[in-house]
Amino acid sequence: MAFVLQISELCREYRRGNAPFLAVDHVSLDIEAGDFVNVIGRSGSGKSTLLNMAAGMLSPTGGTVKLGGEDLVGRSDASLSRVRNAKIGFVPQGASALPCLTILENVLLPFSLWPHEGDGEGAARALLERLGIVHLAGAYPAEVSGGELRRALIARALINRPMILIADEPTSNLDADSAENIMETLTELNGEGLTLLLVSHDSDTLRYGNRICAMSAGKLTEGLA
Ligand SMILES: Nc1ncnc2c1ncn2[C@@H]1O[C@H](COP(=O)(O)OP(=O)(O)OP(=O)(O)O)[C@@H](O)[C@H]1O
Ligand SMILES: [Mg+2]
Repeated sequence: MAFVLQISELCREYRRGNAPFLAVDHVSLDIEAGDFVNVIGRSGSGKSTLLNMAAGMLSPTGGTVKLGGEDLVGRSDASLSRVRNAKIGFVPQGASALPCLTILENVLLPFSLWPHEGDGEGAARALLERLGIVHLAGAYPAEVSGGELRRALIARALINRPMILIADEPTSNLDADSAENIMETLTELNGEGLTLLLVSHDSDTLRYGNRICAMSAGKLTEGLA
């Protein structure tokens, strides 16, 4: 079986006052190539904590994360940064673009960070085209709408042709039409072979994805109760 991401018994302990609690509580999830996993859960249920660990941005206090069979946990910072840059497309919650760079330059940023072969600008323009915002390539982030900016952040996450796109609430604070548009585009990209792990607290997104999971008080259950 070709697993892209294997999350096993993943935990993250935090403290509130003096009391420890598990924001992510022994979560296991295997994601195959071509999956579109949609995780729904209320605010505070641990979704971002889970995604940040899955994307190698936050260290777990227990458990493992494997990307393409390789451990993410326990790597040096430099090695982790390289794997993240090359293999994981991540759109963090509330992600923003650099205001002094154009949309095209923002999309190119992860490509320029490490040496890459090929025509970065061509690839960035093709992605902007794919996401329907190529006409905004030369605009600055302050000059585009919230939905257009989300598309740019998705393009930025895809520029290095990652093994998986991990997106934390990519449609939050958008009007229903823009949110639906983005979910439809993500579904199309999944149809073209992109593997996706997405979280949202919005039950409007329930109809998307081939696997729906529910997050509650740090625990993940597949399927809906
Ligand atoms: N750095 C931290 N220190 C202590 N507690 C934290 C920390 N980060 C998050 N938490 C707590 O962990 C729990 C899970 O937070 P998380 O951000 O993962 O939730 P979420 O499901 O993403 O919520 P939202 O839908 O509002 O984004 C919450 O109770 C939160 O208060
Ligand atoms: Mg969150």
